[in-house]
Amino acid sequence: MDICPRLENRSNEPLYIQLYQYLKEEIQAGGIPSFKRLPSIRRLADDLHISKTTVQMAYQQLLAEGYIESKERSGYVVVEMEGDSFGDLPHFSEPAPAKKRSAAQKNIRFDFYMSYIDVDHFPFQKWKACVNQNLSPEFLSYGDKQGEPGLRAAISRYLRHARAVNCTEEQVVIGSGTQTVMRLLCQLIGLDGKKIAMEEPGYEGVRHVFQGLGFEAVPIKLEEDGINLDELEKSSAKVVYITPSHQFPLGMVMPITKRIKLLQWAEENGGLIIEDDYDGEFRYHGKPIPSLQGLDAHGNVIYAGTFSKSLMPAIRMSYVVLPVRLLDIYQANMFMYDQTVSRLHQRTLQMFMESGEWERHIRKMRKLYQKKHDLLLQTIKKVMNNNVEITGQNAGLHIVIQVNSGYSADELVQIAEKSGVKVYSTTDNWISGQETGNPLILLGFGGLSEEQIVEGIGQLHAAWGPFYKNQ
Ligand SMILES: Cc1ncc(COP(=O)(O)O)c(C=O)c1O
Repeated sequence: MDICPRLENRSNEPLYIQLYQYLKEEIQAGGIPSFKRLPSIRRLADDLHISKTTVQMAYQQLLAEGYIESKERSGYVVVEMEGDSFGDLPHFSEPAPAKKRSAAQKNIRFDFYMSYIDVDHFPFQKWKACVNQNLSPEFLSYGDKQGEPGLRAAISRYLRHARAVNCTEEQVVIGSGTQTVMRLLCQLIGLDGKKIAMEEPGYEGVRHVFQGLGFEAVPIKLEEDGINLDELEKSSAKVVYITPSHQFPLGMVMPITKRIKLLQWAEENGGLIIEDDYDGEFRYHGKPIPSLQGLDAHGNVIYAGTFSKSLMPAIRMSYVVLPVRLLDIYQANMFMYDQTVSRLHQRTLQMFMESGEWERHIRKMRKLYQKKHDLLLQTIKKVMNNNVEITGQNAGLHIVIQVNSGYSADELVQIAEKSGVKVYSTTDNWISGQETGNPLILLGFGGLSEEQIVEGIGQLHAAWGPFYKNQ
């Protein structure tokens, strides 16, 4: 039996792995048949001019995987391979090469992505200190399924005083990202062909979840003060998902009068409101807008929040506050599901919040984002003038501009990209599509420096110049 593998000393793969791979493939292909005795370790090492340890380690791996067995007096023998035992395994063709980024994508100098945060001011040292203190044996096992009780208590304290949410820690359920907590809510609400009403345009991230789980997402038009309540009533939906404190993407705030009417709708129709307060920490002018949940006296609102804007998207930490009647159902039916967020991250965030660092961080970031927000608005007004109209300002990490152009939002995005500026279309935010009005473009500002904001808007204006109306 010839054993002549090609062993590459300079390969990144250790020699014993190369030898093991070769022998494994030969055995699988029948080149080394069942019951065949392999050469002794010493002989193979001599033949191949490699060390005995290398051969021994390769044989150990084959033994461990059950390709050979060690027999007294015979040494290492190939086990009986039943026919082509690997023939039934699916064969995957070579994966397609990763899509190359287009020349335009490579040349992006200014990216106005709305989910970028300011990473230069993240409190790395303080966060690391909290990580270190929680790296302890007692937190290496599974934690509470609903989320760490200490973190839930810190979140509920924060929500009560900063967002006027009426809740206790028992009502808080933690999950890895808004889509995950929405999936959980869908299970909780039940599936039987229900409709979920959504703002049109609205957040496509949760719409995908609703539709993927078999709910019908019903688009409800927006008015200047938020969702159209007559249309909501007519839709016969019993559940509505809304972003009342900073509508996504258009940014309007639902005033108190409409909030009260919406709560009445829920009460009179047996309705349920899912309030997504995804960036409520960042309000730059005027008073903070208290949550809708805090106005609800009948347990008809589920409040949802996330740490993606206020801290970092990477932590994948979101939560919902369940009304007590749903909490009972959750506790009765959902306790077979494990918690989806790392316990270590939860403990770290708990300590970060308990030590006061969280609120310090929010205060610092609010000032910083406000500067960027104001500068973005000023620059747009100065440079683009009446070629665009701004909506959704004064809160969060993005604004929307309505461009005075006969081109579509997708076309304007492409034109911008060619000149090194990445901006985002709102096309995906619509269920039925935008019927009227100028194209809407989303501009995030959290991840850009002040210089980049000014330069980026200048560049964008130059790129769009020939495509504005009346040029
Ligand atoms: C309306 C809305 N909700 C929630 C989120 C955040 O989602 P997640 O918690 O999954 O990061 C976003 C992010 O852009 C959003 O626009």
